Amino acid sequence: MQPKVTVNTLRKMKQAGEKIAMLTAYDTAFARIFDAAGVDMLLVGDSLGMVIQGEQSTLPVTMEQMVYHCRAVSRSARRAHVVGDMPFMSYQASCEEAVKNAGRLVAEGGAESIKLEGGVEFAETVERIVRAGIPVMGHIGLTPQSVHKMGGYVIQGRDEQKARKLLADAQALQEAGAYAMVLEGIPLELAREITRELSIPTIGIGAGPHSDGQVLVCYDALGMNPDFQPKFLKRYAELFQVITSAAQQYLGEVKAGEFPDEAHSFRSNTMRLVRDDEEPEEGKGPVYGVPV
Ligand code: KIV
Repeated sequence: MQPKVTVNTLRKMKQAGEKIAMLTAYDTAFARIFDAAGVDMLLVGDSLGMVIQGEQSTLPVTMEQMVYHCRAVSRSARRAHVVGDMPFMSYQASCEEAVKNAGRLVAEGGAESIKLEGGVEFAETVERIVRAGIPVMGHIGLTPQSVHKMGGYVIQGRDEQKARKLLADAQALQEAGAYAMVLEGIPLELAREITRELSIPTIGIGAGPHSDGQVLVCYDALGMNPDFQPKFLKRYAELFQVITSAAQQYLGEVKAGEFPDEAHSFRSNTMRLVRDDEEPEEGKGPVYGVPV
């Protein structure tokens, strides 16, 4: 068995210039596949509110839901490092609540670190969680939990002053003890600058090629929603089409009485068909039985 990816592994990867690949995962089946494929980090993101639950934002996601999904993912992550996302209002109100909720993702959800959104204003929160023994990944730039404050899902840090603020945010989080940082929805020049300035790994999404690693929402990367086509996204599969055609084939075979056929049915030890001529055609039709 390969050794677990830890915060130390990730630091060494940055030092060695080895890129870090992270995908979101929300259940055990996807986690098992990504883990076996060698993906370094699995983020149980609160993006599940949108891609799993069909909400318009990540805001309705609860701690209970995050613990549930973390548990499902961590059970299958043999090598990949599992990050549990802190949902909206699980850490904003007080450091005490933040520490307790971070602890839940680790103790109940099996996460190996947690992620929270926000810059310098959350430095103390990060410090307190790290002091409790839980590694924290920061998340700055386009922070979806602040969608209303940002006025939508808008690229951040495009002008000098805002770029400076984001650089200061990144430095404050590193100083507070964050072990890595997501850079979301920022210009590639700024992501390169932050990545150069920090000794901890940066993981980009919509932030260009210069971060130490990349993350994508797995349902987006796998093409589950053909209508979602932001500029930053590259699709590595077209699962919407693959699944649609599989579902249509199944539908057709069930309607035609072709599935299930004999090969996918069981034979009784104690029952026989009423009449031999009721034996279904090879691979077709229902089987009626009576006790012998
Ligand atoms: O919730 C999430 O999936 C995320 C990533 C997009 C970074 O925060």
